[in-house]
Amino acid sequence: MEMELLLLLTICLLMFSGKTFGNETGHVKIIIKEDEDVILPCSLKTIYEDDKTIFDWKKDVKDVLLYESGTVNPSTQHDQFRGRVSHFRNGAKSENASIKIIKTKVSDSGHYTCFDIIQSPPEKRNQVVLTVEYILKDRTGEPTAGAYAKPSVKIVNQNNHWALLKCQVLDAFPKPTVVLYNSAGNKVSDKEPSDSTKGDRYDVLLETKVTTTDNYTCVATQEELHHQFNDTTFVHFGGHLSQLAKPSVRTVGPTVGGLLLSCEVHGASPKPIVVWYDRAGNNVSNRAPQVSENGGLYDVILETTVTKTDNYTCVVTQEERHHQSKITTFVERSRGISVTPSLVLIGITIRVLTGV
Ligand SMILES: *[C@@H]1O[C@H](CO)[C@@H](O)[C@H](O)[C@H]1NC(C)=O
Ligand SMILES: *[C@@H]1O[C@H](CO)[C@@H](O)[C@H](O)[C@H]1NC(C)=O
Ligand SMILES: *[C@@H]1O[C@H](CO)[C@@H](O)[C@H](O)[C@H]1NC(C)=O
Ligand SMILES: *[C@@H]1O[C@H](CO)[C@@H](O)[C@H](O)[C@H]1NC(C)=O
Repeated sequence: MEMELLLLLTICLLMFSGKTFGNETGHVKIIIKEDEDVILPCSLKTIYEDDKTIFDWKKDVKDVLLYESGTVNPSTQHDQFRGRVSHFRNGAKSENASIKIIKTKVSDSGHYTCFDIIQSPPEKRNQVVLTVEYILKDRTGEPTAGAYAKPSVKIVNQNNHWALLKCQVLDAFPKPTVVLYNSAGNKVSDKEPSDSTKGDRYDVLLETKVTTTDNYTCVATQEELHHQFNDTTFVHFGGHLSQLAKPSVRTVGPTVGGLLLSCEVHGASPKPIVVWYDRAGNNVSNRAPQVSENGGLYDVILETTVTKTDNYTCVVTQEERHHQSKITTFVERSRGISVTPSLVLIGITIRVLTGV
C-alpha cells in the first residue's frame, strides 16, 4: 500500500510539472493537475503605456480578466475567477498580457482566448486549451488510483412482452452514474441503480424492463474522471423471439432395470426438440417430453431410462435458428451404474447402485 502510494505520488509529481506546447501563431495546449497554478501566456501586438492598455481574457463566453487603464475591471469578471487570477503588468510599459490562475480546478478546463482590445477591431492574440486533470483522493485526502467504470449490459430474461436488461459496473471508483438509453438517446431506466462497495470500489447494478425492439445502451459516467463508457445490446420483439437453448443433463436415479437420465432446457424460444441418443446414434428416448410455455419461452424436460454401458447424448435442436446443442453423459454398467457427465471435465463421477 505504501509502495503504491509512493508510486502514485511520483507519478503525480511528474505530472505536476505540467506540459506546454505552443507555437508562434498563438495556439497553446496546457495540461496540468488540479490545485496547480498555471500561467496562460499572451503578448499584445505592440508595447503600450500601461494606462492605455486594454486586454481581455475570456474562457468560452465567461470573462476571466479584463485589464483596463492600469487596473483590473472587477465588474465583468466571472465569479469562478474572482480572486484567483493575476496579471504581470506592474505599471511599466509592456506587451505582456499573460495571466496566472492559482489553485486550478477541473472546472477551469476549457478554451481561453486573449484579446488585444487596443487594436481596432479587437484582435485575438492567443488561444489556450487548458486541461486540468482531476486527482483522485482517498478518504484521508491522499492521491489514489481511480478505477474506470466499464458497463456491461445483457438481456437476463425475455418473453414476448418485455425484456429485462441488466447493466452492471464492477470495481469502479469514484461511483459512476449509470443510465440506460434507447437508440434515440432517451433515458429508459426508470429506477435508480443499486450499488454496493468493496473497499474503495463500487459495484453498480441497474435493471430495466424494456418493451420495444431497439438497441439499448448503458452509459456509465464518472464526472470526476471525465470518463464515460458504454455498452449496447440489441433487443428484438415479435417475429422470432430467440433464446438459444442451453441443455443441462442430470441423473434422476435408479429406476426399474436401469438409470433414469434427464435432459432439461429452460427459457428457450422457439420451442426446441430434445432427443436422447446412444453412441451408435439410436434414438433412446423412451418417455414423452414435458413441455411448458411461459410468455413465449419454453421449458422442456426429457427423461429416459438407460440400461447399458454407453455414452448417452442429449441433442437439443432449434431448427428455425439453425441451432443445435449437445451434452454427453457416460453411463457404466458393471456391478452398479455410474454416470460421468462428460462436460464436467473436473472428473466428477456419480456412482449409483441400481439394485438390479
Ligand atoms: C501552430 O498553430 C497553427 C494554428 O492552429 C497550426 O496550424 C500549426 O500546425 C501549429 N504549428 C506547430 C508547429 O505546432
Ligand atoms: C510575462 O511575465 C511573466 C512574469 O514575469 C513571465 O513569466 C512571462 O513569460 C511573460 N510573458 C510574456 C509573453 O512576455
Ligand atoms: C441496432 O444496431 C445494429 C448494429 O449497429 C443496427 O444494424 C440495427 O439497425 C440497429 N437496430 C435498431 C432497431 O436500432
Ligand atoms: C458509446 O461509446 C462510443 C465510443 O466511445 C461513442 O462513439 C458513442 O457515442 C457512445 N454512445 C453513447 C450512447 O454514449
